[in-house]
Amino acid sequence: MKDLFISETLNKIGEKVRLLGWVNSVRSHGNLIFFDLRDRSDIIQCVVLKNSPALEIAKEIKEEDIIEITGEVKQREEKLFNPKILTGKIELLVDEIKILSKAKILPFSIEGDGYDINEEIRLKYRYLDLRRKRLQKNLINRHQVILFIRNWLNQRGFIEIETPILTKSTPEGARDYLVPSRLHKGKFYALPQSPQQYKQLLMIAGIERYFQIARCFRDEDSRGDRQPEFTQLDLEMSFIQRDDILNLIENLFIDLVKNLYPQKKITKIPFPRLTYNEVIKKFKTDKPDLREDKNNPNELAFCFIIDFPMFEVLEDGSLNPMHHPFTQPKLKDEKFNKEKIINKLKHNPLELLSEQYDFVCNGYEIGGGSIRTTNKDILIEVFKVLGHQEQDIYNKFGHLINAFDYGVPPHGGIAPGLDRILMILENEANIREVIAFPKTGEGRDLMMNSPAEVEINQLNELGIEIKLNKEDSD
Ligand code: AMO
Repeated sequence: MKDLFISETLNKIGEKVRLLGWVNSVRSHGNLIFFDLRDRSDIIQCVVLKNSPALEIAKEIKEEDIIEITGEVKQREEKLFNPKILTGKIELLVDEIKILSKAKILPFSIEGDGYDINEEIRLKYRYLDLRRKRLQKNLINRHQVILFIRNWLNQRGFIEIETPILTKSTPEGARDYLVPSRLHKGKFYALPQSPQQYKQLLMIAGIERYFQIARCFRDEDSRGDRQPEFTQLDLEMSFIQRDDILNLIENLFIDLVKNLYPQKKITKIPFPRLTYNEVIKKFKTDKPDLREDKNNPNELAFCFIIDFPMFEVLEDGSLNPMHHPFTQPKLKDEKFNKEKIINKLKHNPLELLSEQYDFVCNGYEIGGGSIRTTNKDILIEVFKVLGHQEQDIYNKFGHLINAFDYGVPPHGGIAPGLDRILMILENEANIREVIAFPKTGEGRDLMMNSPAEVEINQLNELGIEIKLNKEDSD
């Protein structure tokens, strides 16, 4: 293991150290060679003098070669200080170099922010693009955000629980990714669009406060703030009301920004809670951008949107839940009344509001959640409004509906989308910039070259035959 990161050489002046990393740049003056060594932490200037035993090998090193060096850490003369790097007041006087791995010339420069480089090439060589400082910062900050959230929720009695990836379709409004079963030919798992039903079942299981840094999969057209697989901070709580969830999320994000992004200013605390009707009327969108100064990269205008309609009408005239079918319907200006709700579902479903809430920041929907229906009759009626037959409802959702029979605590939750939140916090215009290995707009991984064809015997084992139409081949 390496003994020391470059950033740790600062307090080693006068000492001999061993460093490992990448050659960032080389400046040769014949028998005097300067090069910068880079590791994850920083860059240090290294000097090979003409009487150094390392001179010959130093003449061979090229940018991005990986080397091991030893030498003495020296204070630089004051006029040679470089304020741009942390180690700008020191340099390493090299007396030994070992080349561990040679590097070809990279297909693009990893200096600078890289925005001007063709993104397909950046994605094809993502492992090189990730050497870029900006992307390393994004990954490190992503790690810090997730770590902060884990600790914060842990301190408040939440338990992180993993739920299956091979599962059954959960309706979250997108198409499912399907995984064929070898043992049960002709049957498929679906990758979860979210852990929605599992987290509700965990409430029935008595967990009370659950969270998960959860990977979700949705087969939908990608765009700047959408990926086919993405990560949610998924959480669910029992014995709560809407405002408990909103307060929790508000406090979490205030603390997170204060601790990890102190340079950012939150426009308004408490976060405004606006009704759907109000924002549609005023801003013509349900994700308003409430920043006071839209040119200010350090402003965060969080808000919650509440009182959504339960259903929306699709182009073909059918009804769709605005959130998902497990959301509790709500009467306008009236307390919960089961009979009235069922009556509305049967006769005027579009008049119902719901217990949905969205979490919005700077014009992006960064989270969504709801208080859930815990009444079996209401849930069945909601599914009927969505066009399901009774038997079909039991086939698809019997596990949840039957579980309600064994006692179900009142519960609700929310799922902030971590990629979108990081995109905003890191002032990026696209969520690909905060994901280590993202997919293109067409859902491809250009580095691994996926999706890809598979061996015919793999298909045979699954009992699958591929039928391609002319327009399907690319
Ligand atoms: P919803 O579908 O609103 O709710 O998703 C919650 C949040 O996840 C993020 N998100 C995405 N991020 C990147 N790429 C995508 N394709 C994508 N789709 C969604 C958004 C969104 O606000 N199970 C419910 C939550 C709940 O009711 O508790 C759910 O998934 O930031």
